Amino acid sequence: MSEARLQAFHPFLRLTALLDGIPPGSSPGPEGKPVLLHVGEPRNAPPDFVAEAIAEAAPGWSRYPPPRGDAAYRAAAVAWLERRYDLPEGFLDPERHILPLPGSREGLFFAAIVLAGAKNGPRTGRGEGKGAILMPNPAYHVYSGAAAAIGAEAVMVPATAETGFQPEYTGLDPAVLERAALAYLCSPANPQGAVAEAPRQAALIDCARTHGFVAAFDECYSEIYFDAPPPGALQLAAASGSLDQVLAFHSLSKRSSAAGLRCGFVAGDPELIGRLDQAFRFGGAGVPLPVLAAGTRLWQDEPHVVANRQRYRENFDVAERVLGNRFGARRPAGGFFLWLDVGDGEAAALKLWREAGIRVLPGAYMCGEEGDDSAPGAPYIRIALVDDPELTEAALGRLVEVLQ
Ligand SMILES: Cc1ncc(COP(=O)(O)O)c(C=O)c1O
Repeated sequence: MSEARLQAFHPFLRLTALLDGIPPGSSPGPEGKPVLLHVGEPRNAPPDFVAEAIAEAAPGWSRYPPPRGDAAYRAAAVAWLERRYDLPEGFLDPERHILPLPGSREGLFFAAIVLAGAKNGPRTGRGEGKGAILMPNPAYHVYSGAAAAIGAEAVMVPATAETGFQPEYTGLDPAVLERAALAYLCSPANPQGAVAEAPRQAALIDCARTHGFVAAFDECYSEIYFDAPPPGALQLAAASGSLDQVLAFHSLSKRSSAAGLRCGFVAGDPELIGRLDQAFRFGGAGVPLPVLAAGTRLWQDEPHVVANRQRYRENFDVAERVLGNRFGARRPAGGFFLWLDVGDGEAAALKLWREAGIRVLPGAYMCGEEGDDSAPGAPYIRIALVDDPELTEAALGRLVEVLQ
């Protein structure tokens, strides 16, 4: 895999290349600084007790992170999953079903390396060779980057208005499903915020078991929602009475506005968790003990998560007021992105930067490799509503002036 090829998948490198050397226009941001709406990075601080927990656990800095974290963290993760998804007590075993991760990104990337390198896992037994990786199109770039990094076939499945902005894996050609080693499903989805409803998730789990691939559920936005809490894969696994072929990736980055903490976990099939654990023991950084101490406290606390949801709800209220139904704007079921149909996303991103100092992500950059013209995201831009409502209002107001 050449460095250039990997770069061709990276949306932010592509955005830098697009805007490089172009001075930002006069912006509605504080002191006229550019308004950065391209990155999905929370701008509010995590609760104060994070710093306190880290300070109290400071002796842990001299130790290497234990590969499976510590018992308190695993127990807090399981207790949260049981509460959140109403799981039967004892369905998850903290020793076998949980692997702490720095973030969902590391787990999602390693999953491709470890579980999709060959379609020859113990329960698949279907011969040699790289398995295909199924992913939504558009999607979080780490899925296609991971496939590119291991030289696996990336099967990009449209997640468009016609499909409810979620991919329809179960309708794929059975030959493709037989080739598949891994499928990523993101709910709520980045970039469109669509939730995969329970039947869709259950059907994917069934399909994964029938065809012998891993169903990797990216649930890092699971706590940012505006109506009912989105269903999760573990809930559906519990309903099926088994964790076979299911992995659910969770993180404190969005839920607790703690992206810099690097703290999350993957839960699911103990055999797959064991294989991931082994690989992380060779190539992973682990999660330091003081970080696990802070993470334990965060998984135990819900009020800060409720406040976070309220903050994003206010931003979408602002968006609704300022945008109306321009550019097909709609409040997503979850996540914190606006996904706007502006006709030509790349041209709009360039114009917004040049005329208003507003940085947004062209939808095409979430659709796989540069030069690939099968880009259902091309008419769109993605906007992260992570600033305070005042700046959000000013930026969206300016966006309307520039683009309409
Ligand atoms: C869809 C999706 N998955 C995973 C991640 C990774 O987040 P983290 O590694 O911080 O948990 C992100 C981050 O932006 C994301 O948008």
